[in-house]
Amino acid sequence: MMTNGLKITLWLLVPVAVVLLLFGIGILRDGKRAFTARERRIISETDSLMPVYTLPADTAVLRAVSVDFSDRELASPLLETLLSKMTYTVRHPSQDGVGIAAPQVGLNRRAVVVQRFDKAGEPFEAYLNIRIDRLEGELVCGPEGCLSVPGMRGMVPRYPQIQISYVRPGSTERQTEWVEGFTAVIFQHECDHLEGILYIDKAVELSEVEE
Ligand code: NI
Repeated sequence: MMTNGLKITLWLLVPVAVVLLLFGIGILRDGKRAFTARERRIISETDSLMPVYTLPADTAVLRAVSVDFSDRELASPLLETLLSKMTYTVRHPSQDGVGIAAPQVGLNRRAVVVQRFDKAGEPFEAYLNIRIDRLEGELVCGPEGCLSVPGMRGMVPRYPQIQISYVRPGSTERQTEWVEGFTAVIFQHECDHLEGILYIDKAVELSEVEE
């Protein structure tokens, strides 16, 4: 026989258990939450024209190796926001770029936006969890600049054909593609950003230019 006092004590434990359970679920959910607090802040609190990270102030971010998006992050509306802001930023007359990588807006994540000069209408397209799998042909030198290295230009040796693999926005399926010519050069430049490499590391000639 339970005493009334014990019964009351047990019933009091029920709400305590419920609170602990909800708290535990909260911690688990947070652990799987898309993006870090800092990344969420950068994505949601910036204007469409995002501040571009530059040397020397932002060396730590620009020199870090970027990581993949999780499946949960690939499906997140925050990622859509990030890609549309990156696209707006690279196309903006103040930047006027042909490609941009996520570290250039402060996120060490494997996302690039590249202008596809090899496609009709030369659209800007986003590529996620991108990697260069093969580099083919003889190195060819061409002029490059970078939004993150203002006031400089350089001649950089690049491969004329590359094979890339990536996930497109709205998908989780990995695709493979061969790219050639100037578009392949842009992909090499942007993918280098994801390894913390800047074109000035590879340039054979560097010069200052009027901004
Ligand atoms: Ni760049």
